[in-house]
Amino acid sequence: MTKFICRRPGPKSVAIIRRDGKVSSPSLTREYSFVYKKAKGMEIWDVDGKKYLDFSASVAVMGVGHTDSAVASAIARQAKLGLHCGFSDFYAELPVRFCETLLGHARGFGKVFLSNSGTESVEAAYKLARWHSNRKWTIAFKPSFHGRTMGSLSLTDSRPVQRDRFGPFMPAMHVPYPYLYRSPYAGSENDQAMRYLENVENAMKRHGGVASIFFEPVCGEGGYIVPPKAFVKGLRRLCNQYGVLLCADEVQSGCYRTGKFMAMENFGVKADIVSMSKAIGGGMPLGATISSNKIMDWPPGAHANTFGGNLIACAAGIATLEQLKKKKLGANAAKIGKMMLKRLHEMKQTHDIIGDVRGIGLMIGIEIVNGKVNDEVKSSQILCKAAEKGLLLLPAGKSSIRICPPLIINKQQAEHGLDILDEAIGECD
Ligand SMILES: Cc1ncc(COP(=O)(O)O)c(C=O)c1O
Repeated sequence: MTKFICRRPGPKSVAIIRRDGKVSSPSLTREYSFVYKKAKGMEIWDVDGKKYLDFSASVAVMGVGHTDSAVASAIARQAKLGLHCGFSDFYAELPVRFCETLLGHARGFGKVFLSNSGTESVEAAYKLARWHSNRKWTIAFKPSFHGRTMGSLSLTDSRPVQRDRFGPFMPAMHVPYPYLYRSPYAGSENDQAMRYLENVENAMKRHGGVASIFFEPVCGEGGYIVPPKAFVKGLRRLCNQYGVLLCADEVQSGCYRTGKFMAMENFGVKADIVSMSKAIGGGMPLGATISSNKIMDWPPGAHANTFGGNLIACAAGIATLEQLKKKKLGANAAKIGKMMLKRLHEMKQTHDIIGDVRGIGLMIGIEIVNGKVNDEVKSSQILCKAAEKGLLLLPAGKSSIRICPPLIINKQQAEHGLDILDEAIGECD
């Protein structure tokens, strides 16, 4: 449901929103009344002809930029040859080439399971960990978001509405995500990381049969929270010690958003199983679960799906990964992200309602507060005001604003977007 605290949208937008209200599931969450018409590069137009600079990448998907010509051509080329091959039952070269290309970026892994979405790539990781370990318990974090199908929802702990009335869930224990801005612990970053790790170790001891721990290397929907390096390294150590599989959910943080192909690389830690989706398909639905040959040892029939390996999705995925490499978009994300973080830290000095600024690469969050209390109303107002001024942003966590533009963003576009954001915050401060 759209919170209509923005100025009324144009007439064509209003008409579509009305029709949407009649036929779309009311379970979708629209923050403000933006109605997409078309997009190219860093820019999106609504149905009333208004142009926006995109700091949302259509929910962290359009890393390669909107309507990239190489991706669009790859889709058009494949559309003439065939759309779907039934990869779970027949062989085809294109999905194999996509897996090879993906493993060229995901160094040190050996096998890929293909699916269509983030939640499916988490489901596959969850099932693989249970299969390989023959254990049933899982540890996940609060907050965390891993998807909404029943396996991944059992791991998700973000907003109550996502879980209410859907239980019973799969056997999962939730421990606090290392959220230093709201940490209950005192001491240095390292000291606090150790206290958070104690919770993880206690959970591992509570049940002998812990198969896996699911971890977002940067907590996404929960508020764009960056964990301390000592925590991530400690997690790896504990997993080795207790024989638990470390499963990194890179659905949002992966694909060069943080500068590295996988966000885990920023901490110098390698997971056992990795879930990816969103940006890897360049806008087509594509999910991938990645692990070593040793771990992905399940037998034929243990897991499969109809659309995994879809030819159009794989053609788009190959072109996307090639474009990311050719245009060195990981390096661009690191460079522009650094510049944006510097400017946002300066903005924090002049706006009392910015409580925290955090991020890696182009995965940046700012937390809007009143004192230190989350201010959801102000954060919603800022999003609406920014949209009115031509900047598309998304919320995260209780009152954070997420900044996740396409990775093609240049310095001028970054400065321009931050000028708009600064103005919007100033009007709410
Ligand atoms: C970290 C993470 N995991 C899983 C998912 C679920 O992905 P999907 O919505 O494609 O099922 C999301 C979606 O936002 C996500 O951010």
